[in-house]
Amino acid sequence: MNKVTTLHEFIMDRQADFPFASGELSRLLSDIAVASKVVSKDVRRAGLLDNFLGKQGSINIQGEEQQKLDVIADNQFINMFKTGGEVCGIASEENDEFMPFEGEFSQNGKYVVLFDPLDGSTNIDVNVSIGTIFSIYRRQSKVGTPATLEDMMQSGAKQIAAGYVLYGSSTMMVYTTGKGVNGFTLDPYIGEFCLSHPDMRMPEMGRIYAMNEGNVNICDPGIKEYIESKCQQILEGASRPYSGRYIGSLVADFHRNMIKGGIYIYPSTTVDPEGKLRLLYECNPLAFIAEQAGGLATTGHERIMDIEPTRLHQRVPYFVGSKKMVEQAMSYLKG
Ligand code: AHG
Ligand code: MN
Ligand code: MN
Repeated sequence: MNKVTTLHEFIMDRQADFPFASGELSRLLSDIAVASKVVSKDVRRAGLLDNFLGKQGSINIQGEEQQKLDVIADNQFINMFKTGGEVCGIASEENDEFMPFEGEFSQNGKYVVLFDPLDGSTNIDVNVSIGTIFSIYRRQSKVGTPATLEDMMQSGAKQIAAGYVLYGSSTMMVYTTGKGVNGFTLDPYIGEFCLSHPDMRMPEMGRIYAMNEGNVNICDPGIKEYIESKCQQILEGASRPYSGRYIGSLVADFHRNMIKGGIYIYPSTTVDPEGKLRLLYECNPLAFIAEQAGGLATTGHERIMDIEPTRLHQRVPYFVGSKKMVEQAMSYLKG
């Protein structure tokens, strides 16, 4: 049997890759792994515990009903960031405003984290894969002062690291620091994330498309055409058309496409002209990972990571996945 590489060992081995590495980013990535192990444990036992499943009874800034586990996961990550000392402030999908941390200890932190604590909320109560998505930036404001809105509102191209933790049939952490993408599976017997998917590459072409097709008549007619031509007819030289797979947890659809090849589409619709997905918590981090793995992420007209954010909870149309599939889908767009 080969020697197992734990996430912690891997992070330490790669520390020299970071510019001006002083260990803080390594510690931050390790902290995220620890918080996600706690969340994973909660997710795995949620049906057995009082007060873990169901609605929280509150609506977040996105106008969406919060689930109890959304709030539990949010607090778990925030507490870890507050007590780690590497992070001066955070912004989360579940909180209306960004959160500058108080006190010298945190204000000396060089980084901010933007995250979606639990992606796929509607799947929590029905035991379907969900995940955490995170994005790390170097602060713009001066070290030793409170974090500012400007620290949070950076384009995706400025990300220092990004990743996700998928609470699926196994728990996996996948992340990039801009030097490729690596995936780690949580070994429940030893409680460690272990390297299971080194140097992940997204196939250039795949056969899976993921879109909520309930929206097909309220979005760019080119998308309907794309689905009809590519997904509902036998393609030349192929034995069957593309397959539709839509989990309803972006993070899980994305992960499957990372491995098998595919495209995920959440377009602008007449109901949600900006689309549904959040630029800072969902689209940018997964765009960074997609690009690092050889894939693409675009609004259909613009590279996701080039967008200069104008609002914290900004939404954007999203096409992400295998390079050739994203290019193909874009060529059908009219608007
Ligand atoms: P969240 O649970 O963090 O609010 O995100 C849900 C997102 C995404 O994960 C998923 O793919 C999409 O919303 C599903 O939206 P529809 O129900 O409109 O298809
Ligand atoms: Mn989400
Ligand atoms: Mn969420």
